[in-house]
Amino acid sequence: MNDSPNTGQSVLVTGGARGIGAATTRLLAESGFNVLIGDVRSDEGERLAEELGDRTAYCHLDVTNTESWVSAVATAERLFGRVDGLFNNAGILGLGSVMECKPEVFRKILDVNLVGIFLGIRAVVPALRRAKGGVIVNTSSIAGLQGYANLAAYVTSKWGIRGLTKAAALDLARDRIRVVSIHPGPIHTPMTRNFPAGVAAGQPLPRFGEPIEVARMVRFLFSEASYSTGCEFVIDGGATAGAVLELEPELPGMAVTSIAATLPART
Ligand SMILES: NC(=O)c1ccc[n+]([C@@H]2O[C@H](COP(=O)([O-])OP(=O)(O)OC[C@H]3O[C@@H](n4cnc5c(N)ncnc54)[C@H](O)[C@@H]3O)[C@@H](O)[C@H]2O)c1
Repeated sequence: MNDSPNTGQSVLVTGGARGIGAATTRLLAESGFNVLIGDVRSDEGERLAEELGDRTAYCHLDVTNTESWVSAVATAERLFGRVDGLFNNAGILGLGSVMECKPEVFRKILDVNLVGIFLGIRAVVPALRRAKGGVIVNTSSIAGLQGYANLAAYVTSKWGIRGLTKAAALDLARDRIRVVSIHPGPIHTPMTRNFPAGVAAGQPLPRFGEPIEVARMVRFLFSEASYSTGCEFVIDGGATAGAVLELEPELPGMAVTSIAATLPART
């Protein structure tokens, strides 16, 4: 157990069978949340729900399918009596430049990563309204804050999530529903299993993040971020903070002392 108060909130976590979704499910359950894991990986999802006990259950959810969403939200309401939040976390990665990425692959990645979140918002809002408000956390990426070569479809989907988050936050504010996006950098999960270690080497914090470090942010957004909506939360070891310019202070004419010498004297 950890030291966070038991909030008693009930949330649905998509892609909760493994990776960031599983770590978040575990932390939320330990913190007193009821969690319904929605995923297409039934074996892993059911095993996790069984391990975590009464607060957690698993249901098959394909985020690209509207009926599947309706059924998942109904299951959460039936099991827990209400739904207070949705962690729209399920996603897939696909490599390929704009010219290499086949249109069907591009559509597939947008369908899961972006349309899946759109369908999820539409499915859960009636339940959140019945609960008199709630929180939706959408998983974008640092690839939704800047571009990356050879990730055309993924980058497009993650920027779309960032925009959809703002649109939904504006549309749903009157329903007391907050909508925010999170932007993880490289995190150790099955998705990044084959990434070279050097991917994180140039960051201010030169390491991959752990799923629990994302999970803590998500718990904060569900339980404490009461004045935040329509905005981005970044968990990236500083990856998007900016570039380090390797300029030497001795560069001719650039040293602070020589610049000061060119300023007019104060009278
Ligand atoms: N790992 C990273 O470095 C990283 C960085 C930034 C953003 N993200 C994002 O975080 C989220 C989780 O990623 P992860 O690293 O834990 O990946 P992961 O591959 O370990 O887990 C993703 C989960 O989503 C599920 N999923 C896939 N398609 C689905 C569908 N149609 N319906 C329901 N579930 C489906 C998978 O079964 C899996 O359990 C993704 O949206 C990913 O894009 C990951």
